[in-house]
Amino acid sequence: MDVFGMRDFDGHERVVFGRDEATGMQAVIAIHSTALGPAAGGCRMWPYPSTREAVRDVLRLSRGMSYKNALADLPLGGGKAVIIADASAKSPELWRAYGQFVDSLGGRYITAEDVGTTTADMQQVAQVTRYVSGLPRRPGEAGGDPAPRTALGVFLGLKAAVRFQLGRADLAGVRVAIQGLGGVGYHLCRLLAADGARLRVADVRDTAVQRVVEEFRAVAVPVEQVLFEDVDVLAPCALGAVLNGQSIPRLAARIVAGAANNQLAESADGQSLQRAGILYAPDYVVNAGGIISVAREYQGGASEEQVIAEIHRIPERLTEIFERARREGRATHVIADEMARERIGRPVRRLVA
Ligand code: NAI
Repeated sequence: MDVFGMRDFDGHERVVFGRDEATGMQAVIAIHSTALGPAAGGCRMWPYPSTREAVRDVLRLSRGMSYKNALADLPLGGGKAVIIADASAKSPELWRAYGQFVDSLGGRYITAEDVGTTTADMQQVAQVTRYVSGLPRRPGEAGGDPAPRTALGVFLGLKAAVRFQLGRADLAGVRVAIQGLGGVGYHLCRLLAADGARLRVADVRDTAVQRVVEEFRAVAVPVEQVLFEDVDVLAPCALGAVLNGQSIPRLAARIVAGAANNQLAESADGQSLQRAGILYAPDYVVNAGGIISVAREYQGGASEEQVIAEIHRIPERLTEIFERARREGRATHVIADEMARERIGRPVRRLVA
């Protein structure tokens, strides 16, 4: 496999392949940049159809982490890990092998949970390496499960987008469609409902839908329809690449603000949103709440209150991006990418705006 020649290779500092014979663990860690500090980003466990797919994902996700950490003002670079397996492969031995793999990088990469991995998994990883975060904390301390913190950041960012695009200071009666009601989506629904938003929701898991319908008076919509609902805001909180050539012409929302990583299938899809008059909150800016929490936990000494205060700065950062994009007539993701690349000292790639 020609990793250096892959389209998603972006001068990554390291791409390391790890295999453990005893457990059959196959993992890839990509370190995009350590210019601002050790590379931090979660570990995704997913049954990728091929190693190439896994490498592609880890290259994209680790670059996204560099951008996310830089724009969140964290003293961290960007990295990510993927384990090529589904949840049935989990065992104490596998987490030990993964922890040793992380440890072998000597602190250049700090792991945490991501799609397919949990706080409990990271506790097992922590038995063999100290380069891990997102561990259970005592009440009042920074850290723990990042999903509720990610949801808070998305909620605040979504409100900033509503203020900017719709000129509304609150969410009373604002219609929001949420795709994915897992760790982040559930908490996002809770915050939105408390602020008076009207929710339309979908998940492939019926129990997740039922819970949100019962607790927050959300309306369930079909999984195939949720992106195209007649709403003010679309919040993708499940999968990446949902904003693409097929979906964008069918979107009715005027704002897209959600937690999912890599929502744009291609960079050009960001321009398509701009042309359609849809305000896009760049995913890695709006979903930074979790990494802010995990980073402060790792550094030690921070309180939950300090983390929450830091997450409350996401809206001002987003609004700066929205304003610059409007002033310069360019797409929001281009502005965000440029700001991030400037911070990490990478040449700004001039994209068509
Ligand atoms: P999760 O795995 O807890 O939840 C994802 C939910 O999406 C699940 O309930 C799943 O059933 C559902 N889903 C899967 N395919 C679907 C489909 N086609 N249509 C509708 N629903 C579908 O993941 P989590 O932690 O809530 O994260 C959600 C997204 O946010 C992911 O893309 C993740 O990478 C991203 N993210 C999460 C962060 C965190 O702190 N957990 C931080 C930053 C980004």
